[in-house]
Amino acid sequence: MFNLEKTYEAINWNRPTSDLANVFWEQQWKQIWFPEEIAVSKDLKQWKDFEHQDTYKKVFGGLTLLDTVQTNIGMNEIAKFTPDLQEKAVLTVFGAFEAIHAKSYSYIFTTLCTNEEIDGIFEWVKKNEFLQYKANKIGEVYSSIKEDDPETLWKAMFASVMLESFLFYSGFFYPLYLGGQGTLRNSSEVISLILRDEAIHGVAVGFFAQNLFKNFSTEKQDELKVWGYELLLDLYQNEMKYTDDLYAETGLSPEVKAYIRYNANKALMNLGLDMMFPEEEINPIVMNGIRNEGSTHDFFSTKGSSYSLAKVAPITDETFKFNF
Ligand SMILES: [Fe+2]
Ligand SMILES: [Fe+2]
Repeated sequence: MFNLEKTYEAINWNRPTSDLANVFWEQQWKQIWFPEEIAVSKDLKQWKDFEHQDTYKKVFGGLTLLDTVQTNIGMNEIAKFTPDLQEKAVLTVFGAFEAIHAKSYSYIFTTLCTNEEIDGIFEWVKKNEFLQYKANKIGEVYSSIKEDDPETLWKAMFASVMLESFLFYSGFFYPLYLGGQGTLRNSSEVISLILRDEAIHGVAVGFFAQNLFKNFSTEKQDELKVWGYELLLDLYQNEMKYTDDLYAETGLSPEVKAYIRYNANKALMNLGLDMMFPEEEINPIVMNGIRNEGSTHDFFSTKGSSYSLAKVAPITDETFKFNF
């Protein structure tokens, strides 16, 4: 007789086991998009005369690496070890969107650059010490989750929110800054669609992390907080060096750094932790760029955002009629 090792459970969406899994699921699918829907080729004319092509290409190369790590390791590992089946499904869907993000940069490259230039960018990604440092730091935490161990799972979720809500923004700054001034607008439209997804991911994973955190003892919570702030500070120092390296020829470093600190605070808020950096002014072009695109940056806020809970319409036959 075959010996059954364990009992496999089927996912039952009729009985909610997670507070918000269904909300995150619906919102993520509602905002599905594909890079080919954006006419990036309209940027070609401006691109030919664009002064800082090198910075721009490197920004997108760096973002590609982060989305690749998030697809292949981040969402996969966190989904694998998350016990709730509905949350697991939501994380798997997020992973699919990370794959769309990672592919969308290649779509921009293929539209604007030659094959030799593209190969050069991917070589630079492998050699840039600051990029490799952050991928290694985050990847290491992702790969250390143990079975039935909420502590290592929380750490991986913390690292994921660092990546989604904080580390992407040294790169997002540039297309938002340029697009907000009418330069390379279509490429920046792709970025604002990615940012809209990352906003959900940061909020959702932060929320799942907070649910785990509640169940730890006060001593354990204090220990994990110290671990978390140390990781953030480590990543922050690396991010400052990366920014100086990346933006050297543009003179934008100080503004990018302020934007990074603003988003580090957002990441901590998503995790239910105290902010670390004092408030400071952020370049209004970048802030407006986010709002104008109807981003879900303020995920639970209905003002100025394309998203509100009330807009989540019931699924009907119409839901499946797509117009591409
Ligand atoms: Fe992503
Ligand atoms: Fe994401």
